[in-house]
Amino acid sequence: HSPAKLNEGKTKQIFELVDEPGLVLVQSKDQITAGNAVRKDQMEGKAAIANKTTSCVFKLLQEAGINTAFKKLHSDTAFIAAHCEMIPIEWVCRRIATGSFLKRNPGVKEGFRFSPLKMEMFFKDDANNDPQWSEEQLLEAKFTLAGLSIGQCEVDVMNRSTVAIFEILEKAWATQNCTLVDMKIEFGVNVRTQEIVLADVIDNDSWRLWPAGDRSQQKDKQVYRDLKEVTPEAMQMVKRNFEWVSERVQLLLEPQASGRVVVLMGSTSDMAHCEKIRKACTSFGIPCILRVTSAHKGPDETLRIKAQYEGDGTPTVFVAVAGRSNGLGPVMSGNTAYPVINCPPITPDWGAQDVWSSLRMPSGLGCSTILSPEAAAQFAAQIFGLTNHVVWCKLRASMLNTWVSLKLADQKLQACTI
Ligand SMILES: Nc1ncnc2c1ncn2[C@@H]1O[C@H](COP(=O)(O)OP(=O)(O)OP(=O)(O)O)[C@@H](O)[C@H]1O
Ligand SMILES: *[C@@H]1O[C@H](CO)[C@@H](O)[C@H](O)[C@H]1NC(C)=O
Ligand SMILES: *[C@@H]1O[C@H](CO)[C@@H](O)[C@H](O)[C@H]1NC(C)=O
Ligand SMILES: *[C@@H]1O[C@H](CO)[C@@H](O)[C@H](O)[C@H]1NC(C)=O
Ligand SMILES: *[C@@H]1O[C@H](CO)[C@@H](O)[C@H](O)[C@H]1NC(C)=O
Ligand SMILES: [Mg+2]
Repeated sequence: HSPAKLNEGKTKQIFELVDEPGLVLVQSKDQITAGNAVRKDQMEGKAAIANKTTSCVFKLLQEAGINTAFKKLHSDTAFIAAHCEMIPIEWVCRRIATGSFLKRNPGVKEGFRFSPLKMEMFFKDDANNDPQWSEEQLLEAKFTLAGLSIGQCEVDVMNRSTVAIFEILEKAWATQNCTLVDMKIEFGVNVRTQEIVLADVIDNDSWRLWPAGDRSQQKDKQVYRDLKEVTPEAMQMVKRNFEWVSERVQLLLEPQASGRVVVLMGSTSDMAHCEKIRKACTSFGIPCILRVTSAHKGPDETLRIKAQYEGDGTPTVFVAVAGRSNGLGPVMSGNTAYPVINCPPITPDWGAQDVWSSLRMPSGLGCSTILSPEAAAQFAAQIFGLTNHVVWCKLRASMLNTWVSLKLADQKLQACTI
């Protein structure tokens, strides 16, 4: 049976999936457009390259924990996504001023750096060349999509999500020495869950990338827009640039640095506490090893275990779990250059006194103390996140998701109160 076509645009077709209600097939077309399709050339293989870019980028975001419409790859040129009603807004996020921003803001030089990121939005209206909109214009448009009214809360969620998505992609591209200059994305309302999700696609139509921060080496669609004349050679160059991106986009999924957490516990009676640390580490994708050793009763073994992990070159964060008097963390901290986190299993009876054995250190020791096992794992993740973008992206997405759930909880409470 041939599935019904729900929608067709300049670059893709959307098909209903009869067997899987709530999902659609997003099929790319072998066509590249610029300036709202005034220029239109066929480029063989473009769809396949675009497929790869989109699927890698969505996978990166999904694994980080960003809510997206993407489900899975279907073929070389198509993927399966949640069926959305699209919010007709292009969200643009900029780190460096270039392109249309310079025309709209005369006096600002190319290369001006936005910190915080610059947000803009454009109403998707081909007939009027996608006019820039203010937040107020979006609110007054009173869109309702898949039964969800787009009000202040929804606008804030999209604005915040765009920033988080940009920062995640920026961090990932930085591992390839590539500057993410700006980006445009679209959101949809999932017709089943009524959630706002990142939808449509992210490919190099969607961003500007400057290798080594150098505009002259840009590898994005601007090269195509800038072509004075579309010759076969010129199209080959555009295609080579696209291939350059699609080769590297796969690398974005790979962590650039390894690392592990080694939890040392003074006694197996602290196992439950340590398992919580391990579980939280695993959620960040960080391997976590549990060992039993007492710095009071077997200091030779403690130091031998330390040497074992120092000896194989893998960056390690030690977490010391010792009740009553914590000798373990301080002894480790005094004898290794790796970070040590004290995570004592505090008990109600003596906790207020015991905690001082983790806090008051001799000079020269830099161990930190974190009481919650999940928080200790999170702190270890933040340390690895400095050099491992995959871990950093999970931390960043988790921050966004916490922010969004607070916002939604408040909105729900307000609705009930009224
Ligand atoms: N997951 C999805 N569910 C439903 N529709 C989608 C989904 N992803 C993308 N679409 C829509 O499919 C249509 C075709 O995409 P395409 O990008 O080719 O359109 P376009 O010509 O660029 O027009 P537009 O200016 O709306 O992007 C668009 O309207 C797009 O919003
Ligand atoms: C589409 O993307 C996926 C994910 O990278 C890849 O496995 C597949 O080979 C791609 N297809 C083509 C033709 O590039
Ligand atoms: C997004 O949020 C920022 C910070 O709150 C705000 O300054 C900006 O106007 C918002 N942008 C849009 C396009 O809504
Ligand atoms: C990035 O640039 C630095 C310095 O120029 C270089 O040493 C490094 O190999 C580059 N990395 C990649 C992934 O290209
Ligand atoms: C980048 O975007 C262009 C334009 O859609 C597309 O043809 C190409 O496949 C994408 N390229 C890569 C390499 O991702
Ligand atoms: Mg489009």
